[in-house]
Amino acid sequence: NLSLETNPSTGSNAVDHKLLPSASNTAQSSTDWNFNKTLSKIIRKNILKFLDAERDISILKGILKPGDVIHYVFDRQSTMNVSSELYKLLPRVSPLKNQFHKRCAIVGNSGILLNSSCGQEIDSNDFVIRCNLAPVEEYERDVGRRTSLVTMNPSVVQRAFQDLTSEQWKGRFLKRLRGLNGSILWIPAFMAKSGEERVAWAVHLILQQAINVHTAFPSLRLLHAVRGYWLTNKVQIKRPTTGLLMYTMATRFCEQIHLYGFWPFHIGPQGNPVKYHYYDTLTYEYTSQAGPHTMPLEFETLSTLHRRGALRLHIETCN
Ligand code: CTP
Repeated sequence: NLSLETNPSTGSNAVDHKLLPSASNTAQSSTDWNFNKTLSKIIRKNILKFLDAERDISILKGILKPGDVIHYVFDRQSTMNVSSELYKLLPRVSPLKNQFHKRCAIVGNSGILLNSSCGQEIDSNDFVIRCNLAPVEEYERDVGRRTSLVTMNPSVVQRAFQDLTSEQWKGRFLKRLRGLNGSILWIPAFMAKSGEERVAWAVHLILQQAINVHTAFPSLRLLHAVRGYWLTNKVQIKRPTTGLLMYTMATRFCEQIHLYGFWPFHIGPQGNPVKYHYYDTLTYEYTSQAGPHTMPLEFETLSTLHRRGALRLHIETCN
Protein backbone atom coordinates (compact mmCIF):
# COMPACT_ATOMS: atom_id res chain seq x y z
CA ASN A 1 0.00 0.00 0.00
CA LEU A 2 1.48 3.32 -1.08
CA SER A 3 -0.74 5.27 1.31
CA LEU A 4 -2.41 7.08 -1.52
CA GLU A 5 -5.65 7.27 0.39
CA THR A 6 -7.14 10.67 -0.16
CA ASN A 7 -9.69 12.85 1.52
CA PRO A 8 -13.00 11.19 0.64
CA SER A 9 -14.75 14.55 0.47
CA THR A 10 -12.93 15.38 -2.77
CA GLY A 11 -14.74 12.60 -4.55
CA SER A 12 -18.12 13.78 -3.34
CA ASN A 13 -20.63 15.91 -5.11
CA ALA A 14 -20.07 18.97 -2.98
CA VAL A 15 -17.94 21.62 -4.65
CA ASP A 16 -16.03 22.97 -1.72
CA HIS A 17 -13.69 25.64 -2.99
CA LYS A 18 -11.36 25.13 -0.06
CA LEU A 19 -10.70 21.70 -1.54
CA LEU A 20 -9.68 23.00 -4.93
CA PRO A 21 -5.97 22.51 -5.36
CA SER A 22 -3.80 25.56 -5.40
CA ALA A 23 -0.47 25.95 -7.11
CA SER A 24 1.27 25.71 -3.77
CA ASN A 25 -0.16 22.39 -2.60
CA THR A 26 -0.09 20.55 -5.91
CA ALA A 27 2.68 21.21 -8.38
CA GLN A 28 5.39 23.12 -6.63
CA SER A 29 7.77 25.19 -8.70
CA SER A 30 10.33 23.21 -10.66
CA THR A 31 13.09 23.93 -8.16
CA ASP A 32 11.19 22.12 -5.38
CA TRP A 33 10.64 18.92 -7.29
CA ASN A 34 13.10 16.06 -7.21
CA PHE A 35 12.65 12.79 -9.03
CA ASN A 36 12.26 9.88 -6.62
CA LYS A 37 13.75 7.04 -8.61
CA THR A 38 13.33 4.52 -5.82
CA LEU A 39 9.61 5.21 -5.40
CA SER A 40 9.00 5.16 -9.13
CA LYS A 41 10.69 1.74 -9.33
CA ILE A 42 8.48 0.43 -6.52
CA ILE A 43 5.38 1.71 -8.29
CA ARG A 44 6.46 0.09 -11.57
CA LYS A 45 7.01 -3.21 -9.81
CA ASN A 46 3.64 -3.07 -8.06
CA ILE A 47 1.75 -2.14 -11.21
CA LEU A 48 3.43 -5.04 -12.99
CA LYS A 49 1.65 -7.37 -10.57
CA PHE A 50 -1.64 -6.22 -12.14
CA LEU A 51 -0.77 -5.54 -15.76
CA ASP A 52 2.12 -5.47 -18.14
CA ALA A 53 1.78 -2.55 -20.54
CA GLU A 54 4.04 -4.24 -23.08
CA ARG A 55 1.42 -6.95 -23.38
CA ASP A 56 -1.83 -5.22 -22.43
CA ILE A 57 -1.35 -2.21 -24.69
CA SER A 58 -2.72 -4.30 -27.54
CA ILE A 59 -4.27 -7.56 -28.54
CA LEU A 60 -1.99 -9.15 -31.14
CA LYS A 61 -2.72 -10.96 -34.40
CA GLY A 62 -1.83 -14.33 -32.90
CA ILE A 63 -4.59 -14.02 -30.29
CA LEU A 64 -7.58 -13.38 -32.54
CA LYS A 65 -8.70 -14.33 -36.01
CA PRO A 66 -11.36 -12.84 -38.28
CA GLY A 67 -14.82 -13.99 -37.22
CA ASP A 68 -13.93 -14.42 -33.53
CA VAL A 69 -16.58 -13.18 -31.13
CA ILE A 70 -15.65 -10.64 -28.46
CA HIS A 71 -17.78 -9.67 -25.48
CA TYR A 72 -17.60 -5.95 -24.80
CA VAL A 73 -15.90 -4.99 -21.54
CA PHE A 74 -18.67 -2.69 -20.26
CA ASP A 75 -21.67 -4.50 -21.69
CA ARG A 76 -20.71 -8.13 -21.42
CA GLN A 77 -23.95 -9.33 -22.99
CA SER A 78 -23.17 -7.46 -26.23
CA THR A 79 -20.74 -8.96 -28.69
CA MET A 80 -18.87 -8.06 -31.84
CA ASN A 81 -17.33 -10.17 -34.56
CA VAL A 82 -13.72 -9.44 -35.39
CA SER A 83 -13.86 -8.15 -38.96
CA SER A 84 -11.13 -8.93 -41.47
CA GLU A 85 -10.35 -5.21 -41.63
CA LEU A 86 -9.88 -4.91 -37.87
CA TYR A 87 -7.78 -8.07 -37.92
CA LYS A 88 -5.49 -6.49 -40.53
CA LEU A 89 -4.77 -3.63 -38.14
CA LEU A 90 -3.91 -5.77 -35.12
CA PRO A 91 -0.17 -5.55 -34.50
CA ARG A 92 2.00 -8.67 -34.81
CA VAL A 93 4.21 -7.66 -31.88
CA SER A 94 3.66 -5.22 -29.08
CA PRO A 95 4.14 -1.62 -30.24
CA LEU A 96 6.05 -1.10 -26.97
CA LYS A 97 8.29 -4.12 -27.31
CA ASN A 98 11.67 -3.45 -25.72
CA GLN A 99 10.91 0.23 -25.26
CA PHE A 100 12.20 2.13 -22.27
CA HIS A 101 12.43 5.90 -22.32
CA LYS A 102 14.17 8.25 -19.97
CA ARG A 103 11.49 10.98 -20.01
CA CYS A 104 7.89 10.74 -21.15
CA ALA A 105 5.17 13.35 -21.31
CA ILE A 106 1.48 12.58 -20.98
CA VAL A 107 -0.64 15.41 -22.26
CA GLY A 108 -4.16 15.63 -20.83
CA ASN A 109 -6.68 17.89 -22.50
CA SER A 110 -7.46 20.51 -19.85
CA GLY A 111 -7.74 24.17 -20.83
CA ILE A 112 -4.96 24.84 -18.30
CA LEU A 113 -2.61 24.32 -21.24
CA LEU A 114 -3.83 27.48 -22.99
CA ASN A 115 -1.19 30.22 -22.79
CA SER A 116 1.14 27.83 -20.98
CA SER A 117 3.92 28.07 -23.61
CA CYS A 118 4.71 24.45 -22.74
CA GLY A 119 4.90 23.20 -26.34
CA GLN A 120 8.68 23.13 -26.63
CA GLU A 121 9.13 21.54 -23.23
CA ILE A 122 6.57 18.84 -24.03
CA ASP A 123 8.23 18.12 -27.37
CA SER A 124 11.62 17.76 -25.69
CA ASN A 125 10.47 14.50 -24.07
CA ASP A 126 11.58 11.17 -25.51
CA PHE A 127 8.04 9.83 -25.78
CA VAL A 128 4.89 11.97 -25.93
CA ILE A 129 1.44 10.53 -25.22
CA ARG A 130 -1.68 12.47 -26.18
CA CYS A 131 -5.35 11.75 -25.58
CA ASN A 132 -8.39 11.43 -27.80
CA LEU A 133 -6.93 12.81 -31.02
CA ALA A 134 -6.66 16.27 -29.46
CA PRO A 135 -5.54 18.76 -32.11
CA VAL A 136 -1.97 20.04 -32.01
CA GLU A 137 -1.36 22.15 -35.10
CA GLU A 138 -3.21 25.29 -34.03
CA TYR A 139 -2.00 24.97 -30.43
CA GLU A 140 1.63 24.09 -30.98
CA ARG A 141 3.08 26.84 -28.77
CA ASP A 142 1.15 25.55 -25.75
CA VAL A 143 0.89 21.80 -26.35
CA GLY A 144 3.70 20.93 -28.76
CA ARG A 145 3.36 18.78 -31.82
CA ARG A 146 5.35 15.62 -31.20
CA THR A 147 3.17 12.54 -30.79
CA SER A 148 4.48 9.07 -30.08
CA LEU A 149 1.14 7.61 -29.05
CA VAL A 150 -2.35 9.06 -29.24
CA THR A 151 -5.54 7.51 -27.91
CA MET A 152 -8.90 7.56 -29.66
CA ASN A 153 -12.03 6.64 -27.75
CA PRO A 154 -14.63 5.71 -30.40
CA SER A 155 -16.86 8.49 -29.00
CA VAL A 156 -14.34 11.02 -30.33
CA VAL A 157 -15.47 10.25 -33.87
CA GLN A 158 -18.86 11.60 -32.85
CA ARG A 159 -17.70 14.27 -30.40
CA ALA A 160 -15.03 15.91 -32.52
CA PHE A 161 -15.82 14.77 -36.07
CA GLN A 162 -19.64 14.71 -36.18
CA ASP A 163 -19.71 10.99 -36.97
CA LEU A 164 -18.12 11.77 -40.36
CA THR A 165 -21.56 12.77 -41.63
CA SER A 166 -20.25 15.03 -44.38
CA GLU A 167 -17.25 14.99 -46.70
CA GLN A 168 -15.93 17.97 -44.78
CA TRP A 169 -15.92 16.13 -41.42
CA LYS A 170 -14.47 13.04 -43.05
CA GLY A 171 -11.76 15.23 -44.53
CA ARG A 172 -10.95 16.73 -41.13
CA PHE A 173 -10.74 13.29 -39.55
CA LEU A 174 -8.42 12.06 -42.30
CA LYS A 175 -6.25 15.16 -41.98
CA ARG A 176 -5.87 14.48 -38.24
CA LEU A 177 -4.97 10.83 -38.89
CA ARG A 178 -2.47 11.75 -41.61
CA GLY A 179 -0.85 14.18 -39.17
CA LEU A 180 0.02 11.25 -36.90
CA ASN A 181 2.86 10.30 -39.17
CA GLY A 182 3.84 6.85 -38.00
CA SER A 183 2.88 7.19 -34.34
CA ILE A 184 0.84 4.68 -32.34
CA LEU A 185 -2.93 5.12 -32.58
CA TRP A 186 -4.47 3.44 -29.54
CA ILE A 187 -8.14 2.58 -29.98
CA PRO A 188 -10.14 1.06 -27.08
CA ALA A 189 -12.36 -0.81 -29.52
CA PHE A 190 -13.77 -3.48 -27.22
CA MET A 191 -15.23 -1.38 -24.43
CA ALA A 192 -18.82 -0.66 -25.46
CA LYS A 193 -21.13 -1.73 -28.26
CA SER A 194 -21.94 1.95 -28.89
CA GLY A 195 -18.47 2.36 -30.39
CA GLU A 196 -18.79 -0.51 -32.88
CA GLU A 197 -19.62 1.48 -36.01
CA ARG A 198 -17.20 4.29 -35.21
CA VAL A 199 -14.35 1.84 -34.82
CA ALA A 200 -15.34 0.16 -38.08
CA TRP A 201 -15.33 3.50 -39.95
CA ALA A 202 -11.94 4.47 -38.56
CA VAL A 203 -10.43 1.08 -39.34
CA HIS A 204 -11.83 1.18 -42.86
CA LEU A 205 -10.47 4.67 -43.57
CA ILE A 206 -7.02 3.83 -42.19
CA LEU A 207 -6.77 0.87 -44.56
CA GLN A 208 -8.42 2.50 -47.56
CA GLN A 209 -6.30 5.65 -47.33
CA ALA A 210 -3.13 3.79 -46.30
CA ILE A 211 -2.70 6.03 -43.26
CA ASN A 212 0.75 5.76 -41.74
CA VAL A 213 -0.01 4.75 -38.13
CA HIS A 214 0.71 1.78 -35.89
CA THR A 215 -2.67 0.82 -34.55
CA ALA A 216 -3.09 -0.79 -31.13
CA PHE A 217 -6.23 -2.15 -29.45
CA PRO A 218 -6.01 -2.55 -25.67
CA SER A 219 -6.53 -5.96 -24.14
CA LEU A 220 -9.88 -6.86 -22.60
CA ARG A 221 -8.34 -7.03 -19.14
CA LEU A 222 -6.49 -3.70 -19.13
CA LEU A 223 -9.19 -1.53 -17.61
CA HIS A 224 -10.00 -3.92 -14.77
CA ALA A 225 -6.32 -4.44 -14.09
CA VAL A 226 -5.67 -0.69 -13.86
CA ARG A 227 -8.68 -0.20 -11.63
CA GLY A 228 -7.56 -3.13 -9.51
CA TYR A 229 -4.14 -1.58 -8.95
CA TRP A 230 -5.60 1.72 -7.76
CA LEU A 231 -8.30 0.10 -5.63
CA THR A 232 -5.63 -1.98 -3.91
CA ASN A 233 -3.93 1.32 -3.08
CA LYS A 234 -7.23 2.59 -1.65
CA VAL A 235 -7.96 4.95 -4.52
CA GLN A 236 -11.69 4.41 -5.07
CA ILE A 237 -11.98 5.35 -8.73
CA LYS A 238 -15.07 4.34 -10.68
CA ARG A 239 -13.60 3.95 -14.15
CA PRO A 240 -10.06 5.18 -14.81
CA THR A 241 -9.82 8.07 -17.24
CA THR A 242 -7.70 7.83 -20.37
CA GLY A 243 -5.15 10.04 -18.58
CA LEU A 244 -4.84 7.71 -15.59
CA LEU A 245 -4.73 4.66 -17.89
CA MET A 246 -1.84 6.26 -19.74
CA TYR A 247 0.06 7.08 -16.56
CA THR A 248 -0.42 3.56 -15.23
CA MET A 249 0.80 2.03 -18.49
CA ALA A 250 3.64 4.52 -18.92
CA THR A 251 5.25 3.42 -15.64
CA ARG A 252 6.25 0.27 -17.53
CA PHE A 253 8.23 1.97 -20.28
CA CYS A 254 9.18 5.39 -18.92
CA GLU A 255 11.60 6.34 -16.21
CA GLN A 256 10.42 9.90 -15.49
CA ILE A 257 6.81 10.76 -16.26
CA HIS A 258 5.71 14.36 -16.76
CA LEU A 259 2.00 15.20 -16.88
CA TYR A 260 0.66 18.28 -18.62
CA GLY A 261 -2.95 19.36 -19.13
CA PHE A 262 -4.33 17.58 -16.08
CA TRP A 263 -6.65 19.98 -14.28
CA PRO A 264 -10.19 18.69 -13.70
CA PHE A 265 -11.49 21.91 -12.16
CA HIS A 266 -13.33 24.91 -13.52
CA ILE A 267 -11.12 27.36 -11.69
CA GLY A 268 -7.37 27.62 -12.11
CA PRO A 269 -4.67 27.90 -9.46
CA GLN A 270 -4.85 31.69 -9.69
CA GLY A 271 -8.65 31.81 -9.55
CA ASN A 272 -8.98 32.12 -13.34
CA PRO A 273 -11.63 30.18 -15.30
CA VAL A 274 -10.29 27.03 -17.00
CA LYS A 275 -11.94 25.26 -19.93
CA TYR A 276 -12.57 21.50 -19.84
CA HIS A 277 -10.64 21.12 -23.10
CA TYR A 278 -8.01 23.44 -24.55
CA TYR A 279 -9.47 23.04 -28.03
CA ASP A 280 -13.28 23.10 -27.86
CA THR A 281 -16.22 24.51 -25.94
CA LEU A 282 -17.48 21.31 -24.32
CA THR A 283 -18.33 21.54 -20.65
CA TYR A 284 -18.03 18.83 -18.02
CA GLU A 285 -19.38 18.25 -14.53
CA TYR A 286 -16.27 16.89 -12.83
CA THR A 287 -18.01 15.92 -9.62
CA SER A 288 -21.17 14.44 -11.12
CA GLN A 289 -22.09 11.11 -9.48
CA ALA A 290 -23.64 10.05 -12.80
CA GLY A 291 -20.42 10.44 -14.82
CA PRO A 292 -18.14 7.45 -15.40
CA HIS A 293 -15.04 9.07 -13.89
CA THR A 294 -13.78 10.44 -10.59
CA MET A 295 -11.38 12.99 -12.04
CA PRO A 296 -10.79 15.19 -8.96
CA LEU A 297 -9.94 12.11 -6.89
CA GLU A 298 -7.57 10.92 -9.62
CA PHE A 299 -6.00 14.36 -9.61
CA GLU A 300 -5.53 14.31 -5.87
CA THR A 301 -3.80 10.95 -6.18
CA LEU A 302 -1.52 12.22 -8.94
CA SER A 303 -0.75 15.27 -6.77
CA THR A 304 0.27 13.00 -3.92
CA LEU A 305 2.59 11.13 -6.27
CA HIS A 306 3.94 14.47 -7.51
CA ARG A 307 4.74 15.62 -3.99
CA ARG A 308 6.56 12.35 -3.36
CA GLY A 309 8.59 12.73 -6.56
CA ALA A 310 7.18 9.70 -8.39
CA LEU A 311 5.85 11.82 -11.25
CA ARG A 312 5.83 15.49 -12.16
CA LEU A 313 2.55 17.35 -12.61
CA HIS A 314 2.96 20.58 -14.56
CA ILE A 315 0.28 23.13 -13.90
CA GLU A 316 2.41 26.23 -14.10
CA THR A 317 3.42 27.96 -17.31
CA CYS A 318 6.70 26.97 -18.96
CA ASN A 319 9.64 29.30 -19.58
N1 CTP B 1 -8.09 15.71 -18.10
C1 CTP B 1 -7.92 16.47 -16.94
N2 CTP B 1 -8.58 17.65 -16.81
C2 CTP B 1 -9.40 18.08 -17.78
C3 CTP B 1 -9.59 17.34 -18.95
C4 CTP B 1 -8.92 16.15 -19.08
O1 CTP B 1 -7.19 16.06 -16.04
N3 CTP B 1 -10.01 19.25 -17.63
C5 CTP B 1 -7.32 14.47 -18.28
C6 CTP B 1 -8.12 13.21 -17.92
O2 CTP B 1 -7.24 12.27 -17.33
C7 CTP B 1 -8.58 12.71 -19.27
C8 CTP B 1 -7.44 13.13 -20.20
O3 CTP B 1 -6.96 14.37 -19.65
O4 CTP B 1 -8.75 11.33 -19.35
C9 CTP B 1 -7.87 13.31 -21.64
O5 CTP B 1 -8.93 14.24 -21.70
P1 CTP B 1 -10.27 13.94 -22.50
O6 CTP B 1 -9.94 13.59 -23.89
O7 CTP B 1 -11.20 15.08 -22.26
O8 CTP B 1 -10.84 12.67 -21.75
P2 CTP B 1 -12.37 12.38 -21.41
O9 CTP B 1 -13.12 12.15 -22.66
O10 CTP B 1 -12.90 13.44 -20.50
O11 CTP B 1 -12.32 11.10 -20.58
P3 CTP B 1 -11.90 9.63 -21.01
O12 CTP B 1 -11.29 9.63 -22.38
O13 CTP B 1 -10.93 9.30 -19.96
O14 CTP B 1 -13.18 8.87 -20.92
